[in-house]
Amino acid sequence: ALALLAPQDLAGRAVVVSAGGTREPIDPVRFLGNRSSGRQGAALAAEAAARGAQVVLVAANISADVLVVARHPQVEVRPVGTAAELGDAMRDAAASADVVIMAAAVADYRPAAAADQKLTKEDGVLDRIDLVENEDVVAGLAAARRPDQIVVAFAAETLADPDARRERARRKRDRKGVDLLVVNRADAEHGFENAHNAVEVVGDGGSIVAEGSGSKRDVASLIWDAVLNLSQQRST
Ligand code: CTP
Ligand code: CA
Repeated sequence: ALALLAPQDLAGRAVVVSAGGTREPIDPVRFLGNRSSGRQGAALAAEAAARGAQVVLVAANISADVLVVARHPQVEVRPVGTAAELGDAMRDAAASADVVIMAAAVADYRPAAAADQKLTKEDGVLDRIDLVENEDVVAGLAAARRPDQIVVAFAAETLADPDARRERARRKRDRKGVDLLVVNRADAEHGFENAHNAVEVVGDGGSIVAEGSGSKRDVASLIWDAVLNLSQQRST
């Protein structure tokens, strides 16, 4: 019944959402990871499907209780582990997508080599791990996008000062070459493991095109509204 009440303003659109956090193996029992639960990305997928979109959810290490939020006949889940796997899955799905939203937290670096046996203190190597930088997945997607495709990145931000936060967001949006950058407050009350979220959406020229807070589903709705606004502006 809820789906019937949702506006079908994403009907006919193919969208790709990445969510969760990548894990970069150190050895068979250890990894470098982060605290992203995948809740905001799962809410974005669920909201898009409810509004009529065909959705691919590229899910990096999302637990079953979070993934259940995105259960919908129009959501196809593609699980991935590492940043490299996420990059491959995103390029594949983005090829036929109208909108790409990169909500996953991607490890900036990975261990230069993953040991095939569990490392021990006896080995004397656990106190230092050589790292190499991962590819910037969303910057690559933005550089390769078709003129009609919209690419959205996320940035978790712990800066409380609004001016400093926005200035950093503008630079990050330019660096990534994305259409929209969603700045996600990552303090004690917002983001990551919390049910509530507060965001600012940065668009052309670094302007704030939308902002708001609420449940992750409320925030998802606000983000899709901003995407549709941009898409309408571009087609007129
Ligand atoms: N991202 C990506 N590939 C990476 C790192 C980040 O696609 N290797 C994406 C994230 O999914 C997110 C956006 O880039 O959508 C911003 O991530 P963030 O970590 O804030 O940006 P970085 O460029 O890694 O900058 P920072 O040094 O602040 O971590
Ligand atoms: Ca980063």
